[in-house]
Amino acid sequence: RIVYVNGTYVPEAEAKLSVFDRGLLFADAVYEVTAVIDGKLLDFPGHMARLRRSLAELRLPSPGSDQEILAIHRELLARNALTQGHIYLMVTRGEADRDFVWPKDGTPPSFVLFTQKRDAIETREAVEGLRVITVPDLRWGRRDIKTVQLLYPSLAKMEAKSRGKDDAWMVEDGTVTEGTSNNAYIVTQDGTIVTRALGHDILHGITRAAIMKVAGELALHVEERPFTVAEAQGAREAFITSAGAFVTPVVEIDGTPIGDGRPGPITRRLRAAYLEAAL
Ligand code: PDD
Repeated sequence: RIVYVNGTYVPEAEAKLSVFDRGLLFADAVYEVTAVIDGKLLDFPGHMARLRRSLAELRLPSPGSDQEILAIHRELLARNALTQGHIYLMVTRGEADRDFVWPKDGTPPSFVLFTQKRDAIETREAVEGLRVITVPDLRWGRRDIKTVQLLYPSLAKMEAKSRGKDDAWMVEDGTVTEGTSNNAYIVTQDGTIVTRALGHDILHGITRAAIMKVAGELALHVEERPFTVAEAQGAREAFITSAGAFVTPVVEIDGTPIGDGRPGPITRRLRAAYLEAAL
């Protein structure tokens, strides 16, 4: 693979970041993942808007204009001949002697992008659905900032895998916040789509925003409110959204099948409509 590091395109084996990079030492970094279908970037402006917000919340310096960042994405797609998969982007506070205090203004951020080839369309998960467990949400209180502090979600996902399941939904004060790397939804028995409202407790998914729009176009009713694990287990359908998974059904929560235990019709309609709108 050819990757991008601080202004240069290099083979991945030659890419270098300092051991003093604050992304490594403090997880002092934000990221974005933009899906690629048929060589096209999905929701690029949305990802840039969220990146700007994450950078501003942490007072991280900007690595360039949206136009410059788009040009890097396009160059990486071309150099890697990527048509299906995604592009990962990360901005760190750069290199400085290890100190909890930030380095002086003007320290250049580190800026890294790479491609990941993946066919996210014809996946087993999309056809069969995911089986999830629930775990307490032990992350910090600013999950709306897309930082690279992903240790807890990674542990939660490993816990799910160790129990033979696919993923974990995180629970706080009795209600589901989101999945380890996706937003969580249920479809109630009367056909209403329910997902948690935006706040500091979840990531503001770019796919979530797109799905809200698609649901509106399909005249589906959406309610933004918290839901409990029990409500989810009694729901007609459940699903998740992310740039990596688009819309993917959830067919089991903590061992309880959702609906008839198979991907539901509203979930399938949303996935098809999302992919159609994206192309
Ligand atoms: N994860 N919630 C969390 C905690 C996430 O990490 C993600 C994305 C989402 C969905 O956001 P979006 O629709 O903008 O992808 C929700 C990315 C894909 C990742 O970490 O790989």
